[in-house]
Amino acid sequence: MSELITGQKRSARCTEFTEADVGRDVTVMGWVDTRRDMGKIIFVDLRDRSGIIQVVIDDRVSAEDFEKASHIKNEYVISVEGVVNKREDSKVNPKLKTGTIEVIAKSVRILSECDTLPFQIEEADQVGDQTRLKYRYLDLRSKSMQRNLKLKSDICHITRNFFHDEGFIEVETPMLNKSTPEGARDYLVPSRVNPGMFYALPQSPQLFKQILMLSGYDRYIQIARCFRDEDLRADRQPEFTQIDMELSFVDEDDVIDVNERYLKKIFKEIKGIDIETPFMRMTYDEAMRRFGSDKPDLRFGMELTDMSDIFAGCEFKVFADTIAKGGSVRTITVPGAANYTRKQIDELIDFVKIYKAKGLASFAIENGEYKSNILRFMSEDIIAKVVERANAKEGDLVLFVADTNEVVFAALGALRCEMAKRLNLINKDEYKFLWVVDFPMFEWDEENNRCKAVHHPFTAPKDEDLSFMEERPLDVKAKAYDIVLNGTELGGGSIRIHSREVQRRVFNLLGFTDEQAQARFGFLLDAFKYGVPPHGGLAYGLDRLVMLVLGLDTIRDTIAFPKDKSASCQMSEAPNVVDEKQLDELHIKLNLPEEQ
Ligand code: AMO
Ligand code: AMP
Repeated sequence: MSELITGQKRSARCTEFTEADVGRDVTVMGWVDTRRDMGKIIFVDLRDRSGIIQVVIDDRVSAEDFEKASHIKNEYVISVEGVVNKREDSKVNPKLKTGTIEVIAKSVRILSECDTLPFQIEEADQVGDQTRLKYRYLDLRSKSMQRNLKLKSDICHITRNFFHDEGFIEVETPMLNKSTPEGARDYLVPSRVNPGMFYALPQSPQLFKQILMLSGYDRYIQIARCFRDEDLRADRQPEFTQIDMELSFVDEDDVIDVNERYLKKIFKEIKGIDIETPFMRMTYDEAMRRFGSDKPDLRFGMELTDMSDIFAGCEFKVFADTIAKGGSVRTITVPGAANYTRKQIDELIDFVKIYKAKGLASFAIENGEYKSNILRFMSEDIIAKVVERANAKEGDLVLFVADTNEVVFAALGALRCEMAKRLNLINKDEYKFLWVVDFPMFEWDEENNRCKAVHHPFTAPKDEDLSFMEERPLDVKAKAYDIVLNGTELGGGSIRIHSREVQRRVFNLLGFTDEQAQARFGFLLDAFKYGVPPHGGLAYGLDRLVMLVLGLDTIRDTIAFPKDKSASCQMSEAPNVVDEKQLDELHIKLNLPEEQ
């Protein structure tokens, strides 16, 4: 039975009433959060976006309405006309914003009924992820999801105002683009009117925002949807949102400066926290050397220590050989973990294997004695040096990885974070911002046997490195910077190349001939013929920003309708098959693998 609201208007949201309204005739509408049926009197906690108000239904409603009300179940949508009443002191509920008042019903309408729920709304976080996503519309009713999405909306609002006040112009860039690979795989969209042709959804508005600079827009901002067909993780979705900006006539410091002021404002307005600026800056090389990561979490210590010189030529062949081949032996010193059992150490070994480490050696000082699975290879001299350099004290556990620098950094960098989690060393109320600067321009792409861009091909190399770019590309540093917060990359950007000649050299190094570069990025190269201001910018992951501000574990909880691990929407069942007719119009024939 569903009734209409004809003749009724909601007076306000549920928690917008106060004691000042006592005695007032009002109409409230919302969902039944809970109901308590005492026989002659029914209490309903009525809920909407704003919160809860108590409704009392007794003999002051008609017999017909009371009969209706006795059938009300959780999550029914009802409308109640009544009068605001002050509760007796003993009945005050201090947990509710409206805890000192209630609405005494005069009439009740059931606007919509609710089937048996697959889960209780406030128990949403206890059911499996797939169930939550299938019934996302119910999950979205939970207090936590409503808070998350409201806060995301607030952040967007502050963002628009801040950048508007700073002279930025909001410009929309297209969703249907030419495929210009930027690192991840593109999502493609077939064109019906151009048979055999495809658009690509944007991985970011990168090229368009650069073009806006040469078109004279000076400062651009967009809250932009981006699409990347890559493997999903807790901080990655196939479709996500960037706060994307670009500025003309600037250097690295200008971009960093406006963004520090922006983040300061966000944290002040949303969290009431004064974050200190300027943020610390650290070169990429230092971040890797000290933390094994280009996005170090600075809320705890356990920095990496290089032990290579101590173990060079030692008895332990694995270490000696690794060092001889140009790799390294590095450690972290874990405080108070000397009592780790064999089983616990084995778990850590399995953990570092994820990062391709071949093993993990340990050295503990417990009750004044040394415990180590490599003790037989360690002379007294080596032990003394390790203890000193690792600054190892009674109760500490020193963990070693020997491998190529790449593997050592990846494994120990991750293990450092894992140990901090296990040992509860992380203060969740701390916000440690860091700019990582001076990234390498290129890295070696084993698969294709050539250089690839660490950031993207439009990032400018450092001026002083241009002279040896072709001879020693891997030594070239870029004018790139990442903003890191508590071990998560919040955003990244760079000063761009604005010289056609340098852009051509970079494309060549990335393996594009002039013709290939022209075929792919011709519109940008052509545009660059017509007067380009020096420019640079940055993009944040908005979803990640919200996740970190709220202290959530996954960006999924900041997105109303996210995708699951297999990039599907459980609720709407996208992606899905399409009609033969639709495929025919697009001139597409499927060539599916056998099992499908
Ligand atoms: P980049 O590729 O570093 O730079 O992306 C910028 C920021 O976007 C966020 N992000 C993601 N968030 C959720 N899911 C994803 N799959 C995902 N991928 C990236 C991250 C990241 O720091 N055009 C350049 C920016 C520039 O140079 O101005 C770019 O897109 O928080
Ligand atoms: P009582 O016997 O009046 O104290 O109430 C018994 C039950 O009724 C309690 O469990 C309360 O939940 C409920 N109840 C009675 N009056 C109120 C009120 N004004 N507000 C909230 N709950 C009430």
